[in-house]
Amino acid sequence: MKQEIAFIQRADLKVKPDTASLGFGKYFSDYMFVMDYHTDIGWNDPRIIPYAPLTLDPASMVFHYGQAIFEGLKAYKTADGTIQLFRPEKNMKRLNESCDRLCIPLIDEDFLLHAIKQLIVTEKDWIPDGEGTSLYIRPFIFSTEPYLGVRASKQYQLLVILSPVGAYYGNQLSPVRINVEEHYVRAVIGGVGHVKTAGNYAASLKAQEKAEANGFAQILWLDAKENKYVEEVGSMNIFFKINGEVITPRLNGSILPGVTRDSVIELLKYWNIPVREVKISIEEVFAAYERGELEEAFGSGTAAVISPVGELNWNDQTITINDQNIGQLSQRLYNEMTGIQLGKKEDPFNWTVKVAQV
Ligand code: COI
Repeated sequence: MKQEIAFIQRADLKVKPDTASLGFGKYFSDYMFVMDYHTDIGWNDPRIIPYAPLTLDPASMVFHYGQAIFEGLKAYKTADGTIQLFRPEKNMKRLNESCDRLCIPLIDEDFLLHAIKQLIVTEKDWIPDGEGTSLYIRPFIFSTEPYLGVRASKQYQLLVILSPVGAYYGNQLSPVRINVEEHYVRAVIGGVGHVKTAGNYAASLKAQEKAEANGFAQILWLDAKENKYVEEVGSMNIFFKINGEVITPRLNGSILPGVTRDSVIELLKYWNIPVREVKISIEEVFAAYERGELEEAFGSGTAAVISPVGELNWNDQTITINDQNIGQLSQRLYNEMTGIQLGKKEDPFNWTVKVAQV
């Protein structure tokens, strides 16, 4: 699909927030990308238009049957004024995997990436350049056909909105306290846990609220069948460093295949640090702690980057990891990842994709 992207200019621009007050996902830029789908004509009418509320029919199928998926990636501005993305083709591919699982028509990955680049160039002044900041890109698709029978919708809308962001958790790199959830489950094999559908996050809120009420920042999910094997954290994948070796749960069909997760594994291999994707039980993690072998734990994600885990609570036992300090490896991975993303470090994998020079 090589369609022209229409542009509608807005009358005046918003006032941009202070870098210090950014937080995560609170502010939105001046424009958004929109595209529609109808079974008769396919994806059509791509346009960059002023950011504004949407008008939707109350019978739109998304409100009733939940066909809604999304992605998350970031744009960075380097010291020499290069605007770049980090492995965006992986997000485009995963978006289509989410589409496929939710019976949403596939998108042209190259075209969407081209549209995202065009939107970012339009909004280049929204890319913050403070320490630990970036422009978060949120593509999402939802069903719009007004119909109440249960089947896949025949109409959809795809949007891309942009949000200047700082750290996902209050303080970048400050170790987080995590509760291992023993009652609720996130996803089952054969379900939708391996794709980015809105419902996965809705289903996680009850446990998240419970964790927060007890002073924890996040939940560590276990497998739904045996309530035994480690899966992922609320908004991140999880890694443990045990006796010099880094271990992360193997992708099993109910774990989200994170782009940052994959990048961490690649970096560790590049550094010759032993890394394995395995089926690991929470019992094994706690046993490693008892033996004094649990050296570090950290989460990885686009929003969270690298987030050290300072405390894990499971089965009425709370363990403190690395004395609640930022682990050496977590720090190294954070420095390397953000260094590559911000053009401060060499990019041996060609992960960054240049969008423009300003
Ligand atoms: C991301 O890391 O981009 C995510 O989508 C996680 C969360 C903010 C939902």
